[in-house]
Amino acid sequence: MRIDIITCLPRLLDSFFAHSILQRAQQGGYVEVVVHDLRDYTADKHRRVDDYAFGGGAGMVMQIEPIARCIRSLQADRAYDEVIYMTPDGERLNQRTTNTLSLRQNLIILCGHYKGVDERVRELFITKEISIGDYVLSGGELAACVLSDAIIRLLPGVLNDETSALTDSFQDNLLAPPVYTRPAEFEGHRIPDILLSGHEAKIDEWRHEQALERTRIRRPDLLDS
Ligand code: 6GU
Repeated sequence: MRIDIITCLPRLLDSFFAHSILQRAQQGGYVEVVVHDLRDYTADKHRRVDDYAFGGGAGMVMQIEPIARCIRSLQADRAYDEVIYMTPDGERLNQRTTNTLSLRQNLIILCGHYKGVDERVRELFITKEISIGDYVLSGGELAACVLSDAIIRLLPGVLNDETSALTDSFQDNLLAPPVYTRPAEFEGHRIPDILLSGHEAKIDEWRHEQALERTRIRRPDLLDS
């Protein structure tokens, strides 16, 4: 998989992808993440990427030309499955969308900033608009990191058995059950006996019940969907 991220704050993304699982995923050849500085696609010497809004009002708007130039130059080299715009008024991200996107080959992610992008960018280039929740961030960069992380950890081979995505919260629409490690007793607080029983089928059953109960209490909305 290849993910191209377009941003006016490339440094903000570089450090995120240079660590941990995301770094290993790239070194292992499971994903290639390429960050593009939108300012490299401007035509004027001041490298401007934004301008005042037509009709007035507070806030700058990201201009269409640099974005169009960048997207078109990427599309000239390979076909993209989606051109995603990170925006608080997009479709709210969930595990289903993440699973679907993890099956794609090439993705472009455009990070919004200021008051957003010129509406014509959305009409002409964007195939999918994603928000990571009902609150406003100062830019789409953090959201692009969240989306990329959620996708990349699903790529076959990126996680080993111990960190397998199959038992994550939200796969099956259930929250994950509680987990414990040594010591079996801490200041009088013992772990559930069943986990020491060695009875694999019973433990699986217990975990499923716990997952159901936890979901019923914390996120009943997941059980209706
Ligand atoms: Cl994708 N962008 C911004 N700026 N704020 C957000 C968001 C995205 N998702 C939630 N809040």
